[in-house]
Amino acid sequence: MWKPSERIKFFPSLGHLPTRQEAQAAQLFSPVQLGPLSLRHRTWVPAMVPWRSNEEGEVTEDVIQWYVRFAQGQPGAIVIEATGIRNVPSGPLLRIGDDRYVDGLRRLTRAVHEASGGHTRLLIQLIDFLRIRRRPDPQVFFERHLALSPALLERAGLQGVSPEAARQMLFERGPEQWQTLLDPRDWESLQYGAREQVGDLHLPHIRQLPQELPNLFAQAALRARDAGFDGVELHYAHAYTMASFLSATNQRDDGYGGSREGRVRLPLEVYRGVRAAVGSDYAVGCRFLAEECIEGGSTLDDSSWYALQFAQAGMDFLSTSRGGKFDDAKQPSVGQTAYPYTGRSGYECMPQYLSDARGPFGRNREATARIRQLIRQAGLQTPVVCTGGVHNFEMAEAMLAAGDCDVVGTARQSLADPDWALKTWLGQADQVRLCEYTNYCEGLDQKHKQVTCQLWDREQLDEPGIHFSFDGKRRLIAPAWVGAAQATEQP
Ligand SMILES: Cc1cc2nc3c(=O)[nH]c(=O)nc-3n(C[C@H](O)[C@H](O)[C@H](O)COP(=O)(O)O)c2cc1C
Ligand code: SF4
Repeated sequence: MWKPSERIKFFPSLGHLPTRQEAQAAQLFSPVQLGPLSLRHRTWVPAMVPWRSNEEGEVTEDVIQWYVRFAQGQPGAIVIEATGIRNVPSGPLLRIGDDRYVDGLRRLTRAVHEASGGHTRLLIQLIDFLRIRRRPDPQVFFERHLALSPALLERAGLQGVSPEAARQMLFERGPEQWQTLLDPRDWESLQYGAREQVGDLHLPHIRQLPQELPNLFAQAALRARDAGFDGVELHYAHAYTMASFLSATNQRDDGYGGSREGRVRLPLEVYRGVRAAVGSDYAVGCRFLAEECIEGGSTLDDSSWYALQFAQAGMDFLSTSRGGKFDDAKQPSVGQTAYPYTGRSGYECMPQYLSDARGPFGRNREATARIRQLIRQAGLQTPVVCTGGVHNFEMAEAMLAAGDCDVVGTARQSLADPDWALKTWLGQADQVRLCEYTNYCEGLDQKHKQVTCQLWDREQLDEPGIHFSFDGKRRLIAPAWVGAAQATEQP
């Protein structure tokens, strides 16, 4: 992963340790309304893909155990990982693109609701993404993937040469000439792996996205409601289709790109399609980028304006993230796929403990506060969820008190200690296991390996009945917290 050159080390702290009384009177542990949905607390576990599904994209026992473990910590809400809305093979990514997934998802919602004692609300993040290929071996690229256009053959002086010979001769020219001969898109495909983009209007399925996606998202949301989820989060963030429509880099000329109005058009149409399908008594919100953090990408001005459009359209909540783009991702090795969290924008999304003077904690706070302020100035009360480097009560409470957000998301802190909020609520914040922001978990995610936390995945390996990672070395969920029994005293 990219790291700031300053490489200043930051260490998380427990901060102020509230007594039980103080915690239970705090804003963090007060209720909040997301449209029709009541959260008991303002603690939120944002979407995190743990690679626990199977090649069919189904809910497995490991998926259930993973979320049950978070539910035992009784956060206000958990958002289930990015889940594909199409009925197409997507590796071990959870899917909701067909009715056959509903039964498995229903088992998941029941298990989570039960494990939290009914205290935690469960949402699911709905994602669409475009095709991306592995970085090719150059010989294979020239033999099989490269389209031989007349312009390319002319630039290379290979007109009239048979296609097979032209491919071989182009391959033999070597990297220096490839860069000047290939058109920029082919050069990029050779370097990083071919990646479809929303601006590829020459591809019929990309041109058709605005006609296709509102219904695909709507059908997925209906399945989510049937399966017992309390709401859906439309994934408009990071490197995926909807975020690419919002991006300032989106230059589609069919009314769905270019100006801000054009860029936000499909995200609004998707939302309206979903809303029309699920009705007004079901929570629908989105996750989007407060800042894209790439050259030429959307700025805070853009995202504040989008937020206003989303809030005016009637979304029940807005959750912010930042960065996480393919545009500045590192070049993958041959045979590997580019990963959108390896560049500077990836760092902004999941900053780690080696940082710049700004540090990894609360990096998304200022931008989110600005977004919320503009929404409030417009007279709208849409709740805003802020995530990024938050790991203790003091910080979360300060964000709420300052009016930066209405709900506080903690991804890696919840992974490090799924009970952190419950411990705090019980006046036992001194027992919280703090995330160290090493990004060991993110490294596993990058390799599509089952995600665990280094602070607990080698602990108590002799515990009966626990499930292990495929390599047999790591436990897949955090050990139980012995103090958890006290939680049953909760009203
Ligand atoms: C292993 C892992 C998987 C993630 N998967 C998703 C995802 O599916 N959808 C999403 O919006 N964000 C995802 N994220 C980003 C987190 O939701 C969160 O925005 C990010 O980790 C920063 O918050 P934190 O500092 O509290 O960890 C993932 C993060 C991690 C560490
Ligand atoms: S592995 Fe654990 S400690 Fe390290 S960043 Fe991830 S959650 Fe935090």
